[in-house]
Amino acid sequence: MSFCKITKKKLKPFMSFGQMPLANGFLLKKDFNKEFFYNLETSFSEEISLFQINDHPKPKQMFNKHYPFFTSSSKFMIKHFKKYSEWVKKFLSNNSRLIEIGSNDGTFLENFKKLDIEYIGFEPSYNVFKIARQKKINTINKFFSTQHIYNLENFKKKTDVIVGSNVVCHIPDLVDFIKTVDLLLSSNGTLVFEEPYLGSMYEKVSYDQIYDEHIFLFSITSISKIFRSFDFDLVDVIPQITHGGSMRYILKRKKNRNDLGKVKRFIEKEKKLKIDSLEGCLQFKKNCEMSKNKLNETLYKIKKSNQKICGYGATSKSTTILNYCNIGPELIDCIFDTTKEKIGKFSPGMHIPIYNYKLFRKSNYNNVFLFAWNHKKEIQLKEKKLKNINWITHLI
Ligand code: TMP
Repeated sequence: MSFCKITKKKLKPFMSFGQMPLANGFLLKKDFNKEFFYNLETSFSEEISLFQINDHPKPKQMFNKHYPFFTSSSKFMIKHFKKYSEWVKKFLSNNSRLIEIGSNDGTFLENFKKLDIEYIGFEPSYNVFKIARQKKINTINKFFSTQHIYNLENFKKKTDVIVGSNVVCHIPDLVDFIKTVDLLLSSNGTLVFEEPYLGSMYEKVSYDQIYDEHIFLFSITSISKIFRSFDFDLVDVIPQITHGGSMRYILKRKKNRNDLGKVKRFIEKEKKLKIDSLEGCLQFKKNCEMSKNKLNETLYKIKKSNQKICGYGATSKSTTILNYCNIGPELIDCIFDTTKEKIGKFSPGMHIPIYNYKLFRKSNYNNVFLFAWNHKKEIQLKEKKLKNINWITHLI
């Protein structure tokens, strides 16, 4: 039995992905016997239509000095954040104040450095925070919470925009998050965040979106219901293609109610697609089991014909696929990746070796599991010289 992280009411898990290591817990051989595991189960609160994982590691276990994710590792994401920052500028004027939550290596905030505004980023992972500081981007090495804003007098009730990307779904204490926003946002301020979208996960059966960092998979209905009870209105939503399908949510304090017609239409669509109810979860569970069987069949068939398989992109998401489907080095020889913090280590739980992506070009793999499927365009462009590749994914 578990409890909804917002309503605190009892919830019955509808699915288990089994014992799971940390999604970003890439490790050395000497640490195999110390590996941390937890039970990855999912529940759904029908009251607020909220898809959530139950047990999860503490945020400090994940976001620390070894966090191996750098926004700037993807050219596409750099471009995305540039465009996103241009869009955000419409909410700003001279002397405005802006806060980014989970500002990572400063890829987004970099676009505001030259403007006449006051800005600050919150980034709890020390190694990525250090990169932002080297770039002279104002960043606080802390979690965004009520506890960590005591010396931000300049920003309290005066912040025009609070923005986040792929971060709100990481925050287990959403109530504290909303209280922190409330303490900082000006009366006409805007809260904007974009997160992996539950509807896209259902559509693609991209269950690899479910891992320790993604405590919630939001829908428009859930965001609207959660924030409404804290006097915020969801005034607009904009679908995004990032992270395999995300949604940008735009919220305002209730008294600034705008025309919510567009949001209403999206909510009706979610109702039709059963994204707002447990029924959708149960269909998704069936689809995950189908995807798991199909994937194992595909991989074993290739191996039976004496061909080799490698992986491309040692993503955090790949940890869920590999452990849920029980796929180890007997099926996938290695995974190629660009991140220096991962190269030379092994994948969490299943212990597949991670190699430098430059070796991929020299290798003769024809069957490549594209774990970084959400970066498909960028990777295929980079590896376009390679012909006859059988790119494999678990997506249906
Ligand atoms: P993520 O999905 O957890 O953000 O991880 C993406 C991983 O994919 C990261 O380890 C870097 C890797 N990657 C490549 O190896 N090549 C690429 O071209 C891109 C865009 C990402």
